[in-house]
Amino acid sequence: MTKTDQNLAPGRVLIPAPAIRRRVSQLARDISARYRRGDLVLLGILNGSVFFLADLARQLSVPFRLECWRLRSYVGKTTRSSGRIHGIAETPGAFRGSDVLIVDDILDTGLTLATARERLLHLGARSARVCVLLRKRRPRAKPIRADWIGFDIADEFVVGCGLDFDGNYRGLPDIRALEQAP
Ligand code: IMP
Ligand code: MG
Repeated sequence: MTKTDQNLAPGRVLIPAPAIRRRVSQLARDISARYRRGDLVLLGILNGSVFFLADLARQLSVPFRLECWRLRSYVGKTTRSSGRIHGIAETPGAFRGSDVLIVDDILDTGLTLATARERLLHLGARSARVCVLLRKRRPRAKPIRADWIGFDIADEFVVGCGLDFDGNYRGLPDIRALEQAP
């Protein structure tokens, strides 16, 4: 979707809140089983991952440290990625020798997650895996695979559960399609 329309609003519910809750619990179990040994760092990509990250992290049964990077590729009232990543701010030494799990709301073009992953490996992370709530079915601008995926969705712009349109609708409990308001 490439419209930069002003009349877009949350429409159809694509994934209801109870289904999201159940899936997050499953993900937390799978991730905990994978990281029984090691020095796990959760790296949340803000702002979009904030609710998913909080829900997932509180259900992990393994110890972890928490870091966040604030990265942006969508700038302003648009449903189109700017194609550039803004704002990596690093914590010196936080990742060296660690197993890092990058947590984000959605894998879209892949630019954000591929950039974060490359950066982490450059900073000396022992491993850098990826967990996303959503994965869009679309070609990626950068090759990146997610290790844990909540839901696959069609290539349309969605809001809710942390995902926004120009800063709005992050608090909606369901994942909804952004549609033309009647
Ligand atoms: P990527 O770098 O293109 O993979 O984009 C990742 C970022 O773009 C995500 O972390 C989201 O913040 C944002 N994004 C991508 N698709 C959507 C969407 O459908 N709704 C809201 N935000 C999106
Ligand atoms: Mg985001």
